[in-house]
Amino acid sequence: MTTPNMIHLKDYRPPAFLVDFVDLVFELKETDTRVKSTLTLRRNPAAAPGDAATRPPLVLDGRDMALVSVLMDGRPLATEDFQVDERSLTLPDPPDALTLEITTRIQPQENRSLEGLYRSDGMFCTQCEAEGFRKITYFPDRPDVMAAYTVTLIADRSKYPVLLSNGNRVDAGELSDGRHWVKWEDPFKKPCYLFALVAGDLFCLKDTFRTKSGRDVRLRIYVEHENRDKCDYAMQALKKAMAWDEKTFGLEYDLDDYMIVAVNDFNMGAMENKGLNIFNSKFVLARQDTATDTDFWNIDRVIAHEYFHNWTGNRVTLRNWFQLSLKEGLTVFRDQEFTADITSRPVKRISDVRTLRSFQFPEDAGPMAHPVRPSAYIKMDNFYTVTVYEKGAEVIRMIHRILGPEDFRKGMDLYFERHDGQAVTIEDFVGAMADASGRDLGQFMLWYAQAGTPVVTAARAYDPVRKTYTLTFSQFCPPTPDAAEKAPMHIPVAVGLIAPDGGDFPLQLSGEKTPGPTTRVLELRKADESFTFVNVPAPPVPSILRGFSAPVKLRAGCSDAEVRFRFAHDSDPFNRWDAGQTLFAKVILERAAEIRAGRPPVMDDALVAAFRQTLLDETEDRAFIAHAVTLPGEPELATLMSESDLIDPDAVHQARRFVIQTLAQTLRDDFETVFERNRDTGPYRVDPVSVGRRSLKNAALAYLGGLETPEAIQRLFSEFEAADNMTDTMAALTILSHIPCDERIQAIDRFYERWRHDVLVLDKWFSIQAAAQLSDTPATVRKLLDHPAFSIRNPNKVRALVGVFCSLNPWCFHSPTGEGYALLADQVAALDGFNPMIAARMAGMFNHWKKYEPVRRNLMKAQLERIKALPNLSGNVYEIVSKALA
Ligand code: PHE
Ligand code: ZN
Repeated sequence: MTTPNMIHLKDYRPPAFLVDFVDLVFELKETDTRVKSTLTLRRNPAAAPGDAATRPPLVLDGRDMALVSVLMDGRPLATEDFQVDERSLTLPDPPDALTLEITTRIQPQENRSLEGLYRSDGMFCTQCEAEGFRKITYFPDRPDVMAAYTVTLIADRSKYPVLLSNGNRVDAGELSDGRHWVKWEDPFKKPCYLFALVAGDLFCLKDTFRTKSGRDVRLRIYVEHENRDKCDYAMQALKKAMAWDEKTFGLEYDLDDYMIVAVNDFNMGAMENKGLNIFNSKFVLARQDTATDTDFWNIDRVIAHEYFHNWTGNRVTLRNWFQLSLKEGLTVFRDQEFTADITSRPVKRISDVRTLRSFQFPEDAGPMAHPVRPSAYIKMDNFYTVTVYEKGAEVIRMIHRILGPEDFRKGMDLYFERHDGQAVTIEDFVGAMADASGRDLGQFMLWYAQAGTPVVTAARAYDPVRKTYTLTFSQFCPPTPDAAEKAPMHIPVAVGLIAPDGGDFPLQLSGEKTPGPTTRVLELRKADESFTFVNVPAPPVPSILRGFSAPVKLRAGCSDAEVRFRFAHDSDPFNRWDAGQTLFAKVILERAAEIRAGRPPVMDDALVAAFRQTLLDETEDRAFIAHAVTLPGEPELATLMSESDLIDPDAVHQARRFVIQTLAQTLRDDFETVFERNRDTGPYRVDPVSVGRRSLKNAALAYLGGLETPEAIQRLFSEFEAADNMTDTMAALTILSHIPCDERIQAIDRFYERWRHDVLVLDKWFSIQAAAQLSDTPATVRKLLDHPAFSIRNPNKVRALVGVFCSLNPWCFHSPTGEGYALLADQVAALDGFNPMIAARMAGMFNHWKKYEPVRRNLMKAQLERIKALPNLSGNVYEIVSKALA
């Protein structure tokens, strides 16, 4: 293949032409679809004008379609007045203002990329972000071209009674041949990536929301008829999100209708198309017996996320795709805050940081490391990453921390005041924050430009005579493929000092007249920097990076005893949890070293005691305790091991199991107590207290099950059978799935028989087996690829089986036989022919091959080379594997 082109941020130029109006007419049919697009265009006054000879041509993007006709200002274009190739339609010398009427034919029924117009089950739907609109019609497919749209959909009335597009439904009618039509008008200018249409035979759940200014918004959730009893929770989630955005940011919905459609075939989680969100059905459909607590909360999160995009993404949009984090980082921050407010703030923070450390830190230390604002890409699809989303949200969170909530809110207000209706950049957002607060955020911009996770080291010194305590910080950002040298960043570090009795000292920095609060945000700006606290009566234990105030790796050089002390006493719940994780990780990695050295592992008694104290702590939130007694997962432990050594997945797995089983044996009675105490008493509910109780109960069950005794197995099986909700069903089944026994096989079969008709629940059935830590799992996954309920065309199935196996079951995926690697490479090859976006996601699971011990490293490298040599490789997969091999 020829090497695909890189697109660079520095090459950005404003568009040569703007589009003021778009009128689209779709004739939707099973055999082919006709699209007539009428564009009102004019030269962009802000673009470089050029003289008669250098005036830029009009170039419209378009691919995979047949051009039927082009009319300019009502007259057919002569063949010499335009050119068409595989990628575009060009008018070399158009007038300064013109209308174009372009008719194309496309084949949505053949479209397996799930990008552009495609079919999912019996319906038509679209996905245009990032560059899917160009598969529907010829258009300047870039986010800085914003237009007002009218859309007419024509289709068979009986098969497609529901015809939807963005904005307001303005007209409808019947045709004599059994077809009907509906016309939509979106009054808000938008980039084409926010265009959407849906046609199908769908059930509609209706509700209304009265906005704070007193307007009634019609809310509609469309699903397949069989799912009509699974959308109530999503509707409540939408109403909660709308109320929260009014209350928190003063932001109100702007159209009269808000529609959500659930589809089974979707590449991502959901899409914020103006007024017509299209969702992966897994983030809409839920019932107590089909969805877990986590699924319910994910619905809240994703519904809120897409709803929040209406302001952060749609009303104010992106100048170019490099700015993606401007909408995604900010919107993730907003959905995190929403979840924190409706569930538990500390628990939300803990689970977000778990994700960040397990997936974003490795990305930032691997071949795909890129800044929150990337500077170059081959395929934009490859940059919908944990760095752009989750690290992007951390960057916003740091601004929030530095400014404080009031100034942050002023910054948001100013951002909307200045930029409503515009396509802007990250500088515009940070500029609004700086201007509204009077703070200098110049150095802070480095967070958007430098890749890699900074390492912050803290040293301390107590002066018993002067009663001062000095913290000396140094920061270092490791080299990444894009840059070797990094400048010091502006890092907010929240600090507390814990007194010997476990309480917090009030904090007074030298130079201050009076003591302040017990947590202070120190702002690091230099490579090395010291802060001195005065009036510190006794040597404290420092609690640094409270609430995980910056996405960095902290090296605080604390003794085990100090960390245990913080695990027992830190008033900051995040740091209390983190202290526990530090202890567990250390203990597990030490056991791993013993196992590798051929020595029998031995358990650390002090850790067992600290663990027990937390397990039995009745004063804390149950969900917090559940997190606090859950050991770091194997992916996170592998990352930690890679910081000093090559990864040995066997040793990690065995050491973690050893620690779990030792804890289970030693604290068996305590786990029994916790299990019994936290059983559900009333009916199933998804409120934070009930969810917390279930999560602690099931955490205790996991330890008890880890004993793998016949009684333990019996108990798991009967819990599985007795459960009246999917959370408990899945908890028991997951624990059982790791134990080779007949009950395991029986439970898996019963689950299948009960849920064989429900595609979403079957995803869980595939995932359970893919995540099972058993030596024959690679062979099982191979077999399941041929199961009649599996379909490689459905991304949820691919993620449930292949994705879960490769990313959540490292011990089996990294089997030294190489079967896991061959399986993944085979799937990448199979996927790439029709869905390059998903193929590239899967290929990315080889990214960390260089961090593994030599046997596995070489096996992975061979598979990467095999993929790279495939004929007709997509640009998506090429970008991933060529970077991995570089
Ligand atoms: N913009 C979507 C979101 O984060 C994600 C998405 C990207 C969906 C690309 C589909 C395609 O909300
Ligand atoms: Zn988003």
